Amino acid sequence: MSANPPLVVDKEADSLEGLSKSKMKIEPRKVGIDFSDIKSKTFYCDNPCISAMWVGLSVSFPPGEAEFIKSTRAFESRITDDKLLEDVQKFSHQEAHHSLQHRLINKQFQSLGYDVPSLDKFYKKELSKRAEQWSAEKRLARTVVAEHVTAVMAHYALTQEEKMSHFPASLKALFQWHAIEEIEHKSVAFDVYRHCVDDRGLLMREYYYFVFFEFPFGIYMSTRFLLKELGIKVTWQHRKQLFAYLFGKAGLISSVKSLYWMFKRKGFHPWDTDDSDLVEDWKQKLAPHFQH
Ligand SMILES: [Fe+2]
Ligand SMILES: [Fe+2]
Repeated sequence: MSANPPLVVDKEADSLEGLSKSKMKIEPRKVGIDFSDIKSKTFYCDNPCISAMWVGLSVSFPPGEAEFIKSTRAFESRITDDKLLEDVQKFSHQEAHHSLQHRLINKQFQSLGYDVPSLDKFYKKELSKRAEQWSAEKRLARTVVAEHVTAVMAHYALTQEEKMSHFPASLKALFQWHAIEEIEHKSVAFDVYRHCVDDRGLLMREYYYFVFFEFPFGIYMSTRFLLKELGIKVTWQHRKQLFAYLFGKAGLISSVKSLYWMFKRKGFHPWDTDDSDLVEDWKQKLAPHFQH
């Protein structure tokens, strides 16, 4: 038995209202995006650091999303609520299709010279070690945290039009489609965790470790690795631009930090930030990419 305090969950209310707190219909959609417009390895404002950072993130998605699915589905037999079970299945379908599309774009990055296979191999090895060594509860807690970070980045992708306009059109469409689905399913792993594990101490430890160490360090190392393998000479100007891109006024980190920190609040739920209208809006804009 854990000595950690439980999440603040009103079990009685849960049993009355159901365990799924999703505010949106989770709709797995297929998309067909042609990535051949990505012709330069420095596709983001001719900056190798920012470009490689996004390539590294894209390479991390297929193995990462496979882990999100496995760690959540590991609890399926303990879910007593039909709606939450359905959410888990739809979340899994969405994540599986994200992986498929990211594998396609990663092939395009590889054709430009990025060492995608080595980085992919590294992530897979790390995650299979984790599967052997970690408890199911810890794996799910890490997934909940990673899903929170993904949902916050998704919010950024749908609200920072100017920043997103610097991506090649296909990459921008991929991130925005991925973003709407990440927001749609943002509470699924969280709801499974509070129903099946309900250990706030474990969740907060995973949150601090991931947010302050694993995520920034992972991005730094993957960016560095990809740039080294490309043989690109990075200048101080490139580094300065990356710093401004992340931490400057309206920078990626600066503009999402309050959403990022919300997770620490007692009684937090992913749908405390209701971005359903934003998603509805983007569903219309991205409709031409959807295949039915
Ligand atoms: Fe995803
Ligand atoms: Fe997700």
